[in-house]
Amino acid sequence: MVELRKVNKIKGEVTVPGDKSISHRGVMLGALGEGITEIEGFLTGADCLSTIDCFRNLGIETELSGTKVVVHGKGIYGLKKPDKILYTGNSGTTTRLLSGILAGQSFDSVITGDASICKRPMSRVVKPLSMMGADIKGEYCPLEIKGSALNAIKYNMPVASAQVKTAILLAGLYANGETEVVEIEKSRDHTERILSAMGADIIEDGLSVKVRKCDKLTGIHLSVPGDISSAAFFIAAASVMKGSEVLIKNVGVNPTRTGILDVARNMGADIKEINYRSENNEPVCDLLVRSADLKGVRIDGAIIPRLIDELPVIAVMALAAEGETVIADAAELKVKETNRITAVCTELKKSGADITETDDGMIIRGGRKLIGADFASYGDHRMAMSLAVLAQMTDGKCNIDDISCCAISYPEFFNDLYAMEDK
Ligand code: S3P
Repeated sequence: MVELRKVNKIKGEVTVPGDKSISHRGVMLGALGEGITEIEGFLTGADCLSTIDCFRNLGIETELSGTKVVVHGKGIYGLKKPDKILYTGNSGTTTRLLSGILAGQSFDSVITGDASICKRPMSRVVKPLSMMGADIKGEYCPLEIKGSALNAIKYNMPVASAQVKTAILLAGLYANGETEVVEIEKSRDHTERILSAMGADIIEDGLSVKVRKCDKLTGIHLSVPGDISSAAFFIAAASVMKGSEVLIKNVGVNPTRTGILDVARNMGADIKEINYRSENNEPVCDLLVRSADLKGVRIDGAIIPRLIDELPVIAVMALAAEGETVIADAAELKVKETNRITAVCTELKKSGADITETDDGMIIRGGRKLIGADFASYGDHRMAMSLAVLAQMTDGKCNIDDISCCAISYPEFFNDLYAMEDK
């Protein structure tokens, strides 16, 4: 057990690590580009390192120094047959996006990951890829992929998932004709933005994205903004700890990712977006967050994919809010690194929270007195960091079984949190 130390309130500046989604895509698309793709502000978390490792096994040379990565792209048809099983660790993004790329190669490959990955559904990518002509065995990892000739399809997605959308679009680069994906709700569109910058023939129109078979992508310079999903922990912490004021610098505010800002503001949070700018076709700004009195809100519908990874910490914020917060339409939380509906409800209850688990979310009645507890992280980085915020709101000592999982997306999280302590 590790103690989750209390910091009373936080003040100062923090620069959160690079966006996980963009970092993965930079390496993958850089590998398929011609020439060098230089990535600055790369997230050196375990998931993105898994992506680098998989692409090294596919013959792509990468140099990592600090947070800079140089990817020596070999072009759309430049990957080589790996001589071992491709291991994706804990990373759903690596697993699903890679299967889209590997489906259309001229060689066979096998992908697998850790115990959590082996429980996460892969049929959601295997099914549409098979419709394109892919030969993939497995509904769960390991996935055995026989390289095949692919044909374009139009696919109406049954779930809102950027990983599924991207897997199909990446396979679409290899498929004869024009591949179209139609989403039920708009999910993050970093793939579309990077592909377009690299010269792919890609058209976004509302919920539809079309891509054509592609012979050439050109290497680019990519500057990765800070991950709003990591900033979310400080947005929550500064909001609930009276007297806090934090400047979170260089945060990516792509509109497909800013649901947390909309919801936090609806709850009464005091957040200012300053120094607004655009880098690599991605909007970026600094977020100034001050503590505030919060009230409960309803969170459902189209906003869910725009804040899916932030829901655990939003649930924690809701404990500090007056009244009821309802999270609905979020059944996707069940198939994340752990079942985040059950995990959040179980752990928050340990601190005395009034919370009811539902089929597609939870109902939280805020404003109750919270007590110290021994928490479980479920090996899930976002659970561990959310519980660290909860620990700040309790009377009494809080412990957690493991914080090493934070290395997935935010290796320095606790150092950054404690460095802002204002006594
Ligand atoms: C991601 C998409 C989301 C998100 C994950 C990263 C991506 O998953 O939860 O952390 O980079 O495409 P889904 O596509 O399963 O919703």
